[in-house]
Amino acid sequence: MTHKAADLVDWTFGTVDRRIFWDPAIYERELERVFARSWLFVAHESQVELPGSFITTYMGEDSVIVARAGAGTINVFLNSCPHRGNRVCFADSGEGRQFTCNYHGWAFGLDGALKKMPKMGLYKSTPGFRMEDWGLKRARVASYKGLVFATFCEEAPSLDEWLGDFRWYLDAVLDAEDGGTEFLPGGATRSVMKCNWKFPADNFVGDIYHALWTHLGGSEPTLGRHGGVKVDNAGSYQVSVNGHGWEFNDSFLGNAATMGDRELLRYMRSRQDAITARLGRFRANMWGSVASATIFPNFSFLPGYFTFRTFQPKGPTQTEIHAWTLVPKNMPEEIKDRFRRGSMRTFSPSGLLEMDDGENWEHSTTANAGWVTRNQRLCYAMAPIGEVEQEGLPGSVSAGQLSDANQRLFYKRWAQMMDAETWADMPVEVPVAEPEAAE
Ligand code: FES
Ligand SMILES: [Fe+2]
Repeated sequence: MTHKAADLVDWTFGTVDRRIFWDPAIYERELERVFARSWLFVAHESQVELPGSFITTYMGEDSVIVARAGAGTINVFLNSCPHRGNRVCFADSGEGRQFTCNYHGWAFGLDGALKKMPKMGLYKSTPGFRMEDWGLKRARVASYKGLVFATFCEEAPSLDEWLGDFRWYLDAVLDAEDGGTEFLPGGATRSVMKCNWKFPADNFVGDIYHALWTHLGGSEPTLGRHGGVKVDNAGSYQVSVNGHGWEFNDSFLGNAATMGDRELLRYMRSRQDAITARLGRFRANMWGSVASATIFPNFSFLPGYFTFRTFQPKGPTQTEIHAWTLVPKNMPEEIKDRFRRGSMRTFSPSGLLEMDDGENWEHSTTANAGWVTRNQRLCYAMAPIGEVEQEGLPGSVSAGQLSDANQRLFYKRWAQMMDAETWADMPVEVPVAEPEAAE
């Protein structure tokens, strides 16, 4: 890669070089400097609840296994055999006591350690051969309120530092009710889009602007004028910490309203006082409001629909979307199912609203590549960053959700990671003392 990433992004005014959405050399550097050094979301604890249960997923383009070991710890390790490189596990999920490679029969434990192989004595007769050197490479693993993250980077700060004060905002979806959260069985989808992974990530981190145009085709015929949703800059915000961002308004159930399920809205209203008592009015309103969020780099969610998704990079112009529905464990089963069906109807591969987005991101990716086209930068100049100093709100807080503030701070983080040789060159906004709930 010949360019410094800082030259490709002007996050203060708001311009972005189009090459970052298709250039293979930039993409290769992203795999090395962003994906191999970030804490990446790999699973919800509810997906690997029992000892021996596992799922397979990706960290960057690296296939990994997430497995619950006997002692209850969750391990994450590469899904590629150190013998000849074969994929070790082909299932999306399951239960077992070990993983055995199809090719020559090497067997690995739930912690990734090499346990045995056919003709083991022949290896043991080789001077210097040690079983412990040939396990499946393990990642560091840490959880925040049910969400499991992993990184292959030994130098990365702790997950708590990586998320920083964004945890305070995350509690609006992870800690609104007693008993924690879960991913709903049957509420998961996988799909592929021919777009760069950053288009969906930057859309979720702060682009409510597109909803006023892109989604009207789907939402106006079903929900009435403006899709039944109020979006303006009164009573709305963008917040950002370490490149993670959330844009939202104070509507409490604005996103949820667009699923068009009155039972579900009745239920949410019945919980409003209790959630407000728990989180304060400000964060309670984030629970289901007109909102979207991204945890840097590629883990996003929509409060209200409660769809959570990763944008897995599959080359510079292809992205695999893994999506789930997250709900409080204590929610009545019937309401959980309404959320599952509601998010499938709207934000799934066949959903009314997700199809609108995919088409835009695919065309943005391909139309950016022309020789002349690439010499005009993209505009991310809507509204200034960080205009609000409101007591109790951590991070960079901008007034008004119609803004490119979070997207600029997402690309600022991206450029920092792309250019930094080591973690010592990457600033992290370290969490401050536990903030009080803002009213
Ligand atoms: S490649 Fe896995 S045992 Fe040979
Ligand atoms: Fe959208």
